[in-house]
Amino acid sequence: MAFERNAQHFGGYVMQRPHIGNISGVPLDQKTCDTWDNIWKFQAHPEDILVAAYPKAGTTWMQEIVDMICQEGDAERCRRAPTYDRHPFLEAVAPKPVPSGLQLAENMAPPRILKTHLPVQLLPPSFWEQDCKVIYVARNAKDSMVSYYHFQRMNKGLPDPGDWCNYFSSFLSGGVTWGSWFEHVLGWWNAKDHHQVLYIFYEDMMEDTRREIEKVMRFLGKELSEEVLEDVYQHTTFQAMRENPMANYSSIPSFVMDHSISPFMRKGIVGDWRNQFTVEQNEMFEKEYKRRMEGTGLTFRTHL
Ligand code: A3P
Repeated sequence: MAFERNAQHFGGYVMQRPHIGNISGVPLDQKTCDTWDNIWKFQAHPEDILVAAYPKAGTTWMQEIVDMICQEGDAERCRRAPTYDRHPFLEAVAPKPVPSGLQLAENMAPPRILKTHLPVQLLPPSFWEQDCKVIYVARNAKDSMVSYYHFQRMNKGLPDPGDWCNYFSSFLSGGVTWGSWFEHVLGWWNAKDHHQVLYIFYEDMMEDTRREIEKVMRFLGKELSEEVLEDVYQHTTFQAMRENPMANYSSIPSFVMDHSISPFMRKGIVGDWRNQFTVEQNEMFEKEYKRRMEGTGLTFRTHL
């Protein structure tokens, strides 16, 4: 992978937390903003599959499931490269000489499995023009917030999250990178009525993973035997992915992602917010949640 291939270029390099700009009011890495025109003009292929999610919703889990389905259960082929090299992350721009998500995608023959955290209004229009299949993963806001906080602590490719109290306010007001959780989940929820979008909940995946894997399989127009489906399941459990260097982000150098601060494969549960939210924060959250979500028809579970 790019980071490993180019490790010598990082000798003595001190990773700086990124500057944040915005595109149409959505906070994004300044490097992404600088190359936005090219991202917007990205040409999707009709057979490309896009995995979209707000950060920390279980994107990597879904990518692994989709890859296993596309490779018909061949786990070895899914170990061909780390997640970030197998499935270009469209809007990701790392410091040179690491290739951007766009460069990776453009150098890969379609059909590709692509990843994005972009809110629906910022998705390059060719995905809609080509009627691509999109799998959107949504996770309840409380667990997303906690997971994102710990991820920002360990990942220097994102802004320093500061203390939990400030992070809580920043997340609720949509000030974190990729913007408002509310706008993200609602925007994609509405898009599913007009496009080929399969909307999947992290909590449903946790409740019955095999059922959700089958949903994805049918959406992708695949027919896999019970045996192969079981292989997909076994390869994508939390434990299997945590131990898989091609899925657990351990190949990113520790000056970027420091798993000793918080591992990428952290807990993988529903309801961890209870260990982080104060009673007062929970009350504030519930008030704001009601204001933003009531009447939308979109509901989430915060425990199973
Ligand atoms: P936690 O931090 O709550 O543990 P993303 O891939 O969108 O960055 O999401 C990462 C979150 O998904 C992390 O949540 C991670 O542990 C969880 N996750 C990744 N693979 C998983 C799996 N196979 N089963 C359950 N959760 C998984």
